[in-house]
Amino acid sequence: MPIRLRPATPADIPFLMRAERGPGYDRLVGQSSEDQHRAFLADPTMICLIASDDSGEGGFMLLSGRADRHNGICMKRVVAAEAGRGFGTAMVRAGIDWVFRETAAPRLWLDTLRHNARAAHVYAGLGFIQEGVFREAYEMPDGARADRIVFSILRREWLSA
Ligand SMILES: CC(C)(COP(=O)(O)OP(=O)(O)OC[C@H]1O[C@@H](n2cnc3c(N)ncnc32)[C@H](O)[C@@H]1OP(=O)(O)O)[C@@H](O)C(=O)NCCC(=O)NCCS
Repeated sequence: MPIRLRPATPADIPFLMRAERGPGYDRLVGQSSEDQHRAFLADPTMICLIASDDSGEGGFMLLSGRADRHNGICMKRVVAAEAGRGFGTAMVRAGIDWVFRETAAPRLWLDTLRHNARAAHVYAGLGFIQEGVFREAYEMPDGARADRIVFSILRREWLSA
């Protein structure tokens, strides 16, 4: 599935907010207010990429850490508006390529909550390597604590894939 990526603008905020509020997503991914999204879009160390295919816009990836020469870029938020139809895998693959083609980042990293087996499956299938666990480092909406599993892919791994 060919995926196109473009930087989001403030006009995209309703789409971003709708997509990240999919059914059950509050247990899986961060959800921001309009003001928070405006701040992300204005932050020069971040970029939000909207992904589309022939049927339209299907998700987004919010990247942070563009100035972090040590850790590299963080895929801070990944959302497929409609899960389970293959879009997320194609979008993240395109996002990995974008990061290593369009920036000088030495690595791309992200974390996912331990109970988010679908996301972990997608990341591992695309070459991300599990690095470790931030134990109980995320507060769930109900106040429970969840482990964050950290994954990364290095530029040299992407080059040799
Ligand atoms: C995570 C997300 C981006 C993945 O995108 P998607 O379009 O749903 O994923 P795809 O349909 O491309 O692929 C899903 C894969 O997970 C597998 N899968 C589905 N449920 C699973 C589960 N409970 N455990 C393990 N694997 C699972 C599918 O079989 C498929 O694998 P395959 O391609 O090897 O057959 C999307 O589900 C999403 O936005 N979820 C809500 C927000 C979220 O979790 N974001 C990530 C935060 S780190």
